[in-house]
Amino acid sequence: MSGNLASSYSAWKDLQAIYDNERAQLVLKDLFAQDPERFQKFSIEYTSPTNPNTTLLLDYSKNLITGPILAKLLALAREAGVEEWRDKMFAGEHINNSEDRAVLHIALRNIGAQQFKISEEGVDEVGTVLAHIKEFTDAVRTGEWKGYTGKTINAIVNIGIGGSDLGPVMVTEALKRYSKRDLKAHFVSNVDGTHISEVLRECDPETTLFIIASKTFTTQETITNAESAKSWFLSTAKDASHVAKHFVALSTNTPAVTKFGIAKENMFQFWDWVGGRYSLWSAIGLSIALVIGYDNFELLLKGAHGMDKHFKETPLDKNLPVLLAVIGIWYDDFYGAQTHALLPYDQYLHKFADYFQQGDMESNGKTVTKKGERVDYQTGPIIWGASGTNGQHSFYQLVHQGTKLIPADFIAPATTHNPLEHSKHHRILLSNFFAQPEALAFGKTEEEVRKEVGANASEEVVKSKVFEGNRPTNSIMFPLLTPEVLGALIALYEHKIFTQGVIWGINSFDQMGVELGKVLAKNILAQLGKPEDVKGHDSSTTGLIHYYQKWRKE
Ligand code: F6P
Repeated sequence: MSGNLASSYSAWKDLQAIYDNERAQLVLKDLFAQDPERFQKFSIEYTSPTNPNTTLLLDYSKNLITGPILAKLLALAREAGVEEWRDKMFAGEHINNSEDRAVLHIALRNIGAQQFKISEEGVDEVGTVLAHIKEFTDAVRTGEWKGYTGKTINAIVNIGIGGSDLGPVMVTEALKRYSKRDLKAHFVSNVDGTHISEVLRECDPETTLFIIASKTFTTQETITNAESAKSWFLSTAKDASHVAKHFVALSTNTPAVTKFGIAKENMFQFWDWVGGRYSLWSAIGLSIALVIGYDNFELLLKGAHGMDKHFKETPLDKNLPVLLAVIGIWYDDFYGAQTHALLPYDQYLHKFADYFQQGDMESNGKTVTKKGERVDYQTGPIIWGASGTNGQHSFYQLVHQGTKLIPADFIAPATTHNPLEHSKHHRILLSNFFAQPEALAFGKTEEEVRKEVGANASEEVVKSKVFEGNRPTNSIMFPLLTPEVLGALIALYEHKIFTQGVIWGINSFDQMGVELGKVLAKNILAQLGKPEDVKGHDSSTTGLIHYYQKWRKE
C-alpha cells in the first residue's frame, strides 16, 4: 500500500526545494516590476465552444508563482496522473472506489453539439428525465398544472439538505433575474422545526407544490420535514389522493418514494453515479427549472458542458480548472495556508461560497488516500467567503493585515442585470473588485505611510497603517451572469476540486466523514426519553443530555 502519496512524487520534492530556497524572492511587487507582460502570460480567456458571449477571464498573475514554478506544479499534476484520471472519469470508470461507482455529473450536461461517448447504465435515460422535467415545469409555469381545488401553483417548497438543497438554493439566487416572479420558491433543509414552520406560514396548501429532494430518500432531516409537510397539507386537503397534485420526489430510491405515498409518475429519477454535491444538474435541479424555466435550465447545462470540454481537451498549461487546482496546492501544501476564500462581487452570487463549502470540503476533506494510506500533507482547504463589498466591512481587515495567508478568488461580472439609471452602482462595485486584489498584492510600505501621515505621526500609527502586501489572489471575470456563464463557472470549480483530489491521491467522491455523527445521533435519539436511559456516553455528553431533559417542554 504505497506510491499514492503526493509527497513521494519527484515534482513535489522539487517544489519543496523551490519553496525553501526561493520563497524570499517571490514578491509580487518585484515579479510585476520585472515583467511588464506578466498579466498576458498569466491570464487566460475561456470562450464557450458554442456561444462567443459566454467567456470567463482567469487572471492568475497575482499569485506567488513564476513560470518555472507553474511548470513544476503542472509537472506534479502530470505525475499524479491527472490526465489519466480525468479520462477515466469521462469514460465512466468507477473512480469512486470505496462505493464502486462511476462519477458522471458530466453526463447530465452532455447535451448540444460535440457530445462525449459515455457508456454506463442510466446515462441513456438522461434525455428522458430532462423531457419529464421540461413537461412538468412547463405545465406548472403556464398554470396548466392545478392544485387539488383547481387553483394555479404559486409556491414551491424544495425539501432537501446538502447537495439536494445547496445547489438549487445557490442557482435560483444566482439566476433570480430569470425567475418567474409569481412563483415563489422556498427551501427547507434544517431538521429544526423552525425552518419548515416559518416557510409553511407563508404557504397556502391549495397552491403549494412540495418537491422532496433526496438521492437516498432516507436522510433523516429530509424525511422528517417531508412528513411534516404532508401532514400540514392533509390537515386541510384531507384526502390522501390529493397528495399527487402537490408532492413530487427527486430520488434514486423508487421503493422509498412509493412508500412515502408519491406516485411513480411524480418521481424524477437519477442514478447512483450522480454525487449529492454534484447533483444540481440532475432531477435535483427541478426547482431550478421551475424558477428560471426549462430553456434557461438547459442553458445552464450547456454552459457546464462547454467547460467539461475545455477541461477534457485543453493542455494542462491552458486548462483553467487545472491552473486553479495547482495554484491552490502551492498555497495549501507548501505555504501551509489553511483556508481559501471565494469572494464574488455580484449580489446574485451571495450563496456561491456556501455552495462550494460542501462541494469542496465534502469532496476533499480526507486524510487517507484511495489506497488507505494516511497522507502526510494537507488536503482540502477550509472554503469560506461572502459577497464582495459586504466582506470588506467585516473580515477583510484580517485578510489584509492579519497573520494568516488567505488565498482568495475574486469573481465579478463586467456588466450588471440591474443598471440603475443615474447611478454608478456597478462602477463603484467593480472599482472595489479591482482595488482589493491590488491592495492585497502590493500593500503599502512604511515609507509610503510616512509620506502620507506626515512627520508628526507617532510610530504606532505609522506601523498600524502599513500593509505588507504579497497576498495572493485569482480574479475571474465574465461579461454578465447568464445561465451559461454560471454553468461554466460551477463546472470550473468542480473540475478544480477533482484535479486537487487526484493530486492528493484521495477519493473526492465519497463522504464517509458524515456517517459517525449520524449513527451516534440515532442512538442518542432513542435515549432522550428518561434520564436513566442515557447510557454509554462520556460525562460531557451525559451532562448535556441531562441538562436538556431538565428543561425540555416537548
Ligand atoms: O451530508 C451527507 C450527504 O450524503 C450529502 O452528500 C448529500 O448531498 C446529503 O447528505 C443529502 O443526501 P440525500 O440527497 O440522499 O438526502
